[in-house]
Amino acid sequence: MDGNGRWAAERGLPRQDGHRRGADAVRRVVRAARELGLPALTLYAFSAQNWDRPRAEVGHLMRLLRLFLRDERAELLARGIRLMAIGDRGRLPRFVRGPLAALEQATAANRDMTLCLALSYGGREAITAAARALAADVAAGRLEPGEVTEGRLGAELGTGPLPPLDLLIRTSGEQRLSNFLLWEAAYAELYFTPVLWPDFGRAHLEAALASYVRRQRRFGLTGEQVQAAAGKETPGRQDARNFSGRESDPQLASWRPGV
Ligand code: FPP
Repeated sequence: MDGNGRWAAERGLPRQDGHRRGADAVRRVVRAARELGLPALTLYAFSAQNWDRPRAEVGHLMRLLRLFLRDERAELLARGIRLMAIGDRGRLPRFVRGPLAALEQATAANRDMTLCLALSYGGREAITAAARALAADVAAGRLEPGEVTEGRLGAELGTGPLPPLDLLIRTSGEQRLSNFLLWEAAYAELYFTPVLWPDFGRAHLEAALASYVRRQRRFGLTGEQVQAAAGKETPGRQDARNFSGRESDPQLASWRPGV
């Protein structure tokens, strides 16, 4: 969700106005994602590194989060959306942590979509914490070093309730991951758009999905192997996930613009 500051600067407004309009875009995009049938949406709302921003900006972002958690409660419940968070929630102020935990609990049984907020989140930090947890298990004799597997490490990352990451969108023209879902993005399709986050809406999400469905995902296989595994599937949207043992998401796999 990059570009709030530049959106504001272009209009001679304070950065806070950019974040406020960014929060409006969050509401729009969550609704669009649900209507388009996406199983999950993870938003990079506040990174572990964002704590080093000016105190006033951090405070403003925390207040926007609190408002979001308060104002979106009814909508998330009505639309069957489960809310969860990843990141170091212990660093969040109590006025965010409390409503966050309450909304996670209230929406825990919702199954139509998962909205995951990355808060005080860093991909390296998450991997390090997971490695530390497994190291502690090994040191305590609960685990053999040989039992430290991709599956076990992945399960420690906090993203376990989410389906595999298929598409990673970065707004504002930047082309880097900036410590977001580093492990999970191993085979994600990357999509970069110059659109600043406060301007991002349903049409932009649809454009990203349209790009995604045109790609061939090979997961290290050859294009021929993927085609053979896909059988009679229409060229232009074959997917190696079934071939590599990953569970394919039927809604996203069949998504087409305008559907
Ligand atoms: C990065 O853009 C954006 C952030 C660090 C904060 C994102 C927060 C929101 C969109 C609003 C609050 C979130 C929720 C879930 C209600 P930037 O500020 O670095 O923009 P710039 O690169 O143009 O300066």
